[in-house]
Amino acid sequence: MSQPFEVSSVTTLEGELAVPGDKSISHRAAIFAGLSDGICRVSNFLPSEDCVNTLRAMGQLGVAFEVAKGTADRPVDLVIEGTGGALQAPKGELDCGNSGTGMRLLAGVLAGQPFESVLVGDESLSGRPMGRIITPLEKMGALIETRGVKPGCAPLRVRGRSLQAITYEMPMASAQVKSAILLAGLFAPGTTTVVQPAVNRDHTERLLNAFGVRVMTDGNRISMEGRQILRARDLVVPGDFSSAAFWVVAAAALPGARLVLSNVGLNPTRTALLDVLRRMGAGITIEPEGEDGGEPRGRLVVEGGKLAGTVIRPEEVPNLIDEVPILAVAGALADGVTAIRNAAELRVKETDRIETTVRNLRLMGGEVEEFDDGMVITGGTSLRGAEMRSHGDHRIAMAFAVAGLLAGEGKTVVHDTACVATSYPGFADHLKSMVGP
Ligand code: S3P
Repeated sequence: MSQPFEVSSVTTLEGELAVPGDKSISHRAAIFAGLSDGICRVSNFLPSEDCVNTLRAMGQLGVAFEVAKGTADRPVDLVIEGTGGALQAPKGELDCGNSGTGMRLLAGVLAGQPFESVLVGDESLSGRPMGRIITPLEKMGALIETRGVKPGCAPLRVRGRSLQAITYEMPMASAQVKSAILLAGLFAPGTTTVVQPAVNRDHTERLLNAFGVRVMTDGNRISMEGRQILRARDLVVPGDFSSAAFWVVAAAALPGARLVLSNVGLNPTRTALLDVLRRMGAGITIEPEGEDGGEPRGRLVVEGGKLAGTVIRPEEVPNLIDEVPILAVAGALADGVTAIRNAAELRVKETDRIETTVRNLRLMGGEVEEFDDGMVITGGTSLRGAEMRSHGDHRIAMAFAVAGLLAGEGKTVVHDTACVATSYPGFADHLKSMVGP
């Protein structure tokens, strides 16, 4: 049983903190290092359940690794010995836990292997759509059987085959789908091309390039020659922007607050929230702190003020998709209307995040209208503390803990907080440090 978050409102926030490593980059670091041709030292790996599951899956596929800092369950620095792409058939099922990224990227790798594997996940992951990767991977020649209770869902039995390159137009702006295809494309002769409907997170492209694989991006077309070798390299993972986002909003929406967040990943395909918050009137300064593996990072100085509502532009949505629950909280505190539409993808995340965000905001007295593809929030009235559930979704748990800090009155209790360990170990301590002794 996890402890609920019990949060009372604060009058100010100040200080400096560093969030743990980026989740998207940590999954890719484990996979790419494991496919590379030598030894890779990966530092500031995210020691969360999701990323550890991917690392363990790579271990079952024959990748040796050692923990240089942290523990076996919570590795922070790793030495990973690449296989040069020669993976072994796994002994048991590969358990991806709660992670869509883990399952979809691993499916891409496994599609091109000369063996069969089974990918399983928890209840939430076993209800998420896998057809979106199965269609392109089967076009490339793989055979993937869904064995879930829900049609088109995990467990997945992946029968690897020799693959052929394809050109694929993705129906949705999904980095997981794009990455599954590119990873399968590594095992196919010829040019694999993915055409995306809108720009979305490009960690796979940047990191493959950093591992010596030439990936070409031309507008929304991404192309890569198959059978390239990933060259081993060391990698320092930046802090996760999506984890930092909870504190960015906490400080931005509280007049007089000042928070500094150091070592935050600032890949422009992840940071649309900063543009939106600035448009809403937030004071945010960015101080660059360097780059590694093509991934920029920096220090964010956030100064709070009264926010004003805004309309999120369609092209911004994929680049703030994981920040919508906390952005909705900002919208509820801002004067005027905040519209978040064109975001139907939220319905197939760890929970239906349109439904769970709207439900919890309403419990706190927020005025919000639900649409098939998003929500429209009329802000300005203050939120009040309430008792609610995360529904097993880490970002819902954290967004509403922060909402509790910003509520005008009353105590907020968020139940089902174990899920936070999938992406942000240490969140509860950071939350406590915000409230003070
Ligand atoms: C991710 C891509 C996004 C995002 C998820 C991580 C990734 O999902 O929501 O948290 O690491 O590639 P989609 O590809 O489904 O949009």
